[in-house]
Amino acid sequence: MADASHDLVVIGAGPGGYVAAIRAAQLGLSVGCVELEEALGGTCLRIGCIPSKALLESSERYHETKDALAVHGVKVGQVELDLPTMLKRKDEVVRGRTQGVDFLFKKNKITRYKGVGTIDGPGRVRVKSGPQTTTLAAKDILIATGSKPASLPGVEWSGDKIGSSTDALAYTSVPKHLVVIGAGYIGLELGSVWLRLGAEVTVVEYLDRILPGMDSEIAREGQKLLERQGMEIRLQQKVVGAKVKGKDCVVECEGQEPIKADRVLVAVGRAPNTEGLGLASVGVQVDERGRVPVDGHYQAAEGVYAIGDVIGGAMLAHKAEEEGVACVEGIVTGYGHVNYDAIPGVVYTQPEIAAVGRSEDELKTEGVAYRRGVFFFRANARAHALGQIDGRVKVLADAATDRILGVHIIGPRAGDMIAEAVAAMEFGATSEDVARTCHAHPTLAEALKEAALAVDGRAIHS
Ligand code: NAI
Repeated sequence: MADASHDLVVIGAGPGGYVAAIRAAQLGLSVGCVELEEALGGTCLRIGCIPSKALLESSERYHETKDALAVHGVKVGQVELDLPTMLKRKDEVVRGRTQGVDFLFKKNKITRYKGVGTIDGPGRVRVKSGPQTTTLAAKDILIATGSKPASLPGVEWSGDKIGSSTDALAYTSVPKHLVVIGAGYIGLELGSVWLRLGAEVTVVEYLDRILPGMDSEIAREGQKLLERQGMEIRLQQKVVGAKVKGKDCVVECEGQEPIKADRVLVAVGRAPNTEGLGLASVGVQVDERGRVPVDGHYQAAEGVYAIGDVIGGAMLAHKAEEEGVACVEGIVTGYGHVNYDAIPGVVYTQPEIAAVGRSEDELKTEGVAYRRGVFFFRANARAHALGQIDGRVKVLADAATDRILGVHIIGPRAGDMIAEAVAAMEFGATSEDVARTCHAHPTLAEALKEAALAVDGRAIHS
């Protein structure tokens, strides 16, 4: 006998799981959601997107006040860093957001179960919390357990000294020398935070470029701008070990002198969370990278579904949310859809880097005939008023149909600007459509219009 029964039991309350739970409740299902952490919201809200953005914002304010206000005619006296307050503010932002999910669960009459969820055969989920076990019966089960930081052979984790993004969001003092392993999203964002707060930052990357997967022309510009801020980026260096030695850490790279640091951030990707989930009890086997294989309806087995980081693809909160909604809409209505060609990616460095659709590298590899239009922010009036003129917008359009295939932006507020490009692509827009759309003046968004005009060689301001 089960202790409770639901139409849908969601395991994991991250952005994929909690959004799916809310959508399912809106559609009239009785929903239970199992989460092992006290706070709802998953990695994104607790130890990922939200705290990192809070620290990125605060550290940028500090850096700007210290070094970049004089040009605006604003004189400031002694600027001091109050790190405990900065960290406390970050924690408050997180608390507010996670409590917001509690509120939404109550509003939508979703039952929350605190504990570790394990599938116990078809239609059954066991929730273990300390000595107590609750058994849930479920018509359908949705796995949304997310991912955890990947480890690296030879790297001895110590938490505070050699650790993951979770540790780097809570250093209680500014490192003297922070070595970041991996020049991906996490490495560059958290490396930026501590660089702005005064650390010497060395990023060690295995590949010959930063931000793998992003358009390489934009990534090269990003690298230059980060280096200009003082970030040291060492490419083509494979980290083969790291350990704590006395007060220091030593990072070993293949064929190179070891690097000494007082803190090391390991940011070499993330691995799906499937351990102890009881997948075998419903006949599901993970793939070679530990991901749950699903079909086009996110179904892994009869009555068992999975979404988000745990199924592979881009490990992004908004991708998980879209999948969560599509999955439960599919269960209830028989139809749910995610357009994987229009999932944006944003790196919240300064300037921000944002992209949607195909990169130029991909189009070349795929042999797609395309036209490109590029517009530089240094020709945009609003960027000058802001005092942020670095970067560019690149629009890639199909040579035959003019349909937009990709948009890549590095520049001020690129993360907000990309939304227009995503909407345009969702509606199957051509570069001509964007070029002929009236954009308010003076705005940064005009740079997108100009890049669209540039596809046809008729940008006005360049
Ligand atoms: P990532 O996959 O973005 O980057 C990892 C980097 O580590 C790669 O460039 C890889 O070549 C490098 N690497 C791997 N092994 C190495 C070695 N032995 N030595 C040196 N370099 C090595 O992974 P990251 O930054 O850890 O982020 C994890 C996930 O979280 C990503 O999938 C990302 O999408 C997501 N995320 C998204 C954010 C956003 O949307 N703004 C922010 C933070 C994370």
